Amino acid sequence: MNSIAIYPGSFDPPTNGHLDLIVRSNQLFRKVVVAVLRNTSKQSLLSIDERVKLLKECTKDFPNVEVDAFDGLLVDYARVRESNHIVRGIRALTDFEYEFQIALLNRRLAPDIETIFLMPREEHVYLSSRLVREVALLGGPLESFVPPPVAAYLGEKAKEFLRIYDTEG
Ligand SMILES: Nc1ncnc2c1ncn2[C@@H]1O[C@H](COP(=O)(O)OP(=O)(O)OP(=O)(O)O)[C@@H](O)[C@H]1O
Ligand SMILES: [Mg+2]
Repeated sequence: MNSIAIYPGSFDPPTNGHLDLIVRSNQLFRKVVVAVLRNTSKQSLLSIDERVKLLKECTKDFPNVEVDAFDGLLVDYARVRESNHIVRGIRALTDFEYEFQIALLNRRLAPDIETIFLMPREEHVYLSSRLVREVALLGGPLESFVPPPVAAYLGEKAKEFLRIYDTEG
C-alpha cells in the first residue's frame, strides 16, 4: 500500500499495546508516523521529549516508522504530513464510544481522511498507559507491560519518585 498513516496518542508512557499497533500499521502502510499529542489535558508522567525519545528507541528497527510530536487539530497535522489515514486502537468496548466520537468528528472536519481501527493481541487488551503509570509510581515491575527501553527508563525514574537512596552503602 502506497500511503502514510498517522498513529496519534499521548504515549505516556509507550506500552506493549502501542508497539503492537505500530507493528501492525507498519505491515499495512508504506510509512507510519507515530505522533505524540502535545496539547493534552491529562496530567503527565513523562515530558513530550521523553516520550518521543523512548518511542524512537522502541521503533529503531523499523525504518518506515517515524516519531514526531504535534499540536492542534489532528486532521490539520495529517494534511501537513500528506496522510489520509489515522490509526487508532480498540481494546475493550469502553474504548469504542470515545473512539467512535472522535473518528466521526474528524470525518466531519476532513471527509477524505479515514480512521482505521486495529485490535491488539489478546494479551494487551487490558493494557493502558494509565495502568503503567500507576505501577511505575508504586515502583512495581514493568517488564511485561512496556518495551525494554521504557522499563529501564521508568525503573530509573521510579527511584526518583520513591526517593530510594542506599544510605547504608
Ligand atoms: N493496549 C492497547 N491495545 C490497543 N490499542 C491501544 C492500547 N493502548 C493504547 N491503545 C490505543 O492507542 C491510541 C493512543 O492511546 P493513548 O496514548 O491515549 O494510550 P492509553 O493507554 O489510552 O493512555 P491513557 O491510559 O493515558 O489514557 C488509542 O487509540 C488507544 O486506544
Ligand atoms: Mg486512554
